[in-house]
Amino acid sequence: MIEVLFFGCFLTFVNADGVADVVLSCSLVEEGAGLGGMGGGALFTRTPATLVLRDVPVGPDESLDTLTPFVPPSVPDPDLILFENKGDSFFLQRLASVSVKSAPFVLNLSRSVPAVSSAEIPNAVMLLHADCNELEVMCEISRYAPRGLPERSDPAYFMVSLSVEGLDISTSLILQTLPVEKDQSTLTQNKLSLPLSQSGTLQTKVIFLVFSNINSVSAPLRGDVLLNCGFKQEETSLAPEVGLEWRLQHRGKGRKVLEMKRELDNTEGATVVHGERKGSSVDAAQALREGNVSMSLTELKVGDEGTYICTVNLGNFHAQQVIQLHIVQPPQVSLSEEKLILQKSSPQTLSCHCAKYYPLDTQMEWFFLPPTESEPKLFPNQGSLSSHRQHGDGTFSLSSHITIPPSFSPGTKITCKVSHPAMDEPLYVSIVVESPQPDSYWWVLGFLVVTVLFFYQVMK
Ligand SMILES: *[C@@H]1O[C@H](CO)[C@@H](O)[C@H](O)[C@H]1NC(C)=O
Ligand SMILES: *[C@@H]1O[C@H](CO)[C@@H](O)[C@H](O)[C@H]1NC(C)=O
Repeated sequence: MIEVLFFGCFLTFVNADGVADVVLSCSLVEEGAGLGGMGGGALFTRTPATLVLRDVPVGPDESLDTLTPFVPPSVPDPDLILFENKGDSFFLQRLASVSVKSAPFVLNLSRSVPAVSSAEIPNAVMLLHADCNELEVMCEISRYAPRGLPERSDPAYFMVSLSVEGLDISTSLILQTLPVEKDQSTLTQNKLSLPLSQSGTLQTKVIFLVFSNINSVSAPLRGDVLLNCGFKQEETSLAPEVGLEWRLQHRGKGRKVLEMKRELDNTEGATVVHGERKGSSVDAAQALREGNVSMSLTELKVGDEGTYICTVNLGNFHAQQVIQLHIVQPPQVSLSEEKLILQKSSPQTLSCHCAKYYPLDTQMEWFFLPPTESEPKLFPNQGSLSSHRQHGDGTFSLSSHITIPPSFSPGTKITCKVSHPAMDEPLYVSIVVESPQPDSYWWVLGFLVVTVLFFYQVMK
């Protein structure tokens, strides 16, 4: 699967009654006909396309009052690819409520509405006063062939992959074209050979979608995680049974994690859940009631890391979501010495140990702060690193060794700073260098003096 970010924009037009038209600039992705690349896979062609999501309910928001509904081009153009979603956009309520409330407006008309020139959007200029916030929307549309149906069936189907960077929203939806009443004036879309509506749009409805509200999750080793995935379908069920599969893909290897089969309208019906990984589960009741097929994993191991693919099958249709799971475990940090007493003649070694962390990237830095100064300084020589050790559970350990010269002044504070992706802030461990001890000769002498004084007192 290719993944190319399309720098698109959300453009929202609001009608008086709290519904908005969301206009997305997308690309129509097609396999290049007869241009199968050698070894590099098929070539894909991309054509700009626009997806208009009509009448998406939005919450009350003052700044939206001045916006107007989306107006299709006055003269239909068979070269434009303008998908218009007429069905009740059940899922988009969620999308819109998130995106509109957090105001991710990017109002670049030249870019977001390639199918419509600004002249045809009344009040377009007024849109521009809204706070603009660059936001990447990836929207890709491709032809979708349901399993078991002829490739160019009527109605036609399209798969739309939609994700909004920074909002962690990702949806795959299947559009079905609506019947068009044809007469002599009916135009046919040049590229797709599909009849256009009077206004030059391809009228569609969303029949099925799979979504996730998180694209990437981090969880601690031995912890639990819920990988979010849900599906929705139109009112009349597409199939009597829903099939779910969760797979894990990592470093070129793939395996099935969990599988579920469930009859949709028979609440008594048997559910077959087969978890290949111990501690993986899906709430079958919730899957049935709400279409929530999130999978929970317990007792996470390093080997659970990777790309999870949630696939929902409904009869001839299937759609997926992809979620990255990262395992993170902060290091246990310690110094080799509890006390560091300077020796008159020989330098001393101090080690900073980072134990049992994951992933590998950790950074250790040494600082020193002489008692006479206020700012710690970086050691000119950052010491030597041991090689990484990997433990049975996949975690790593690493040590850094530094040499403390005898010339250091007592009272100097030595700090090891450790940074690791599992910790928001670096961790510091410090030790204060102590003055050399008095020679043992003086200890013996002192002890003798005390003893003599003691006996002197007793014998008196
Ligand atoms: C709008 O998009 C066009 C095409 O990508 C770009 O050339 C232009 O600079 C953009 N304008 C703003 C204000 O971002
Ligand atoms: C599924 O349910 C869990 C709570 O049980 C919730 O946190 C999550 O957001 C739900 N996911 C979907 C896709 O509805």
